[in-house]
Formats: sequence, structure tokens, C-alpha cells
Amino acid sequence: MLDIDRAIIEFDRAVRTLSGAAQAARAMPRADIDPASLTDAERRHAAALMRINHCGEVCAQALYQGQALASSNNRIQAALEQAAREEADHLAWSAARIRELGGRASLLNPLWYAGSLALGFLAGKLGDDWNLGFLAETERQVERHLQGHLERLSPRDSATREVIETMQREEVGHARTAQALGARELPECVKRGMALGARVMTGSTYWV
Ligand SMILES: [Fe+2]
Ligand SMILES: [Fe+2]
Repeated sequence: MLDIDRAIIEFDRAVRTLSGAAQAARAMPRADIDPASLTDAERRHAAALMRINHCGEVCAQALYQGQALASSNNRIQAALEQAAREEADHLAWSAARIRELGGRASLLNPLWYAGSLALGFLAGKLGDDWNLGFLAETERQVERHLQGHLERLSPRDSATREVIETMQREEVGHARTAQALGARELPECVKRGMALGARVMTGSTYWV
């Protein structure tokens, strides 16, 4: 494919990711609670948590995109396609749930998107084993982080819980896929650096 064609496709993907116009291929997991039956505080809290998750999914889009741009291994690309499709659904579901809760997406999304794209590209350039190691560790951290959200969410908010639990299950699958493809275990200091970056992201996105 011509470089210019590729650039247009990637740019289009970035715009769709950041504009909130992404469409899910699968219906959003549903539970039987109407957001109106939550208190205002519960709704605001859930919307802020989903704003963080949505930002995480924006970052996932950028990571997978950066990884695909940097790596030319077709076997890995094909194996990651399913994960990338599920990430696209997570992005659309989290945006939809924020809307249902009356919240808004983070203003910082473009910033985190750019940073994640650069990181994904860098990881892709380090070689497939490091690249997959980075993906696997990211997915594991996201999974733990979603667990934290399930514990902080109002027990009455089964609708938001249903979305988060489905995403969490699938993130576990993504980590396993990267592992099975030959992910290398990252050094502890890199894992800690990633966790620190994630804390800055979650801390700021809850409010902004
Ligand atoms: Fe995801
Ligand atoms: Fe994932």
C-alpha cells in the first residue's frame, strides 16, 4: 500500500477514536438498571470511572495502531486482529455508557492518544517479543485496574458493572494472546514505570 494511503487510513482511525464516533460491532452488554434510578453522586462517580476506562480504550487503540505500524510480522498482526476488534467495541461501549450516565469523555484524550501511539510504535520497533511483552503487561495492568473500578462502583450500578466485567474478561484474553505469541517478560522497572504513567492518567482523567 502507498504510504500516503496508509497515512490517510491511520489519520481517519485517529479521528474516529477521538471523536467518539466509533461504532461497536457487538451490542453493549446489558443489565437491567436505568441510570435514572441511581443517585446523582452514584451516576457522577460511575461516569468518571467510565471516563477513565474510555481514555484507557483510546490508549489501547493507539497502542495497537502504533504496534501495527511498527511491526511487519503478518502472523502476529493476524493473531492480534481479534483483540483489536474487541478493543474497538470497548471504546464504543465505554463512550456509550458515559453518555447514558450523562457524563463526558476526557479532554485529555488527544494527549494520551499521542503518547500511547508513540509508545506502541517504539515498542513495535524494539522487536516482536518486546512489543508483545509490552502489550501483555498493558493488558494485565488494565485488567487489575478494572478490578479496582468494580470494587469502587456502586453495588446498585449493575449496568456499568456488566460493561466493565465484559471488558475485563476480554483484556485477560488479550494478555493471554500476546503471551501465546511469544511475549517477553518486561523488566520490573519498566512495569513500575508503566504503572506510574497509568496512575497519572487515571488520577487526572477522573476529574478532567
Ligand atoms: Fe479494552
Ligand atoms: Fe485489551
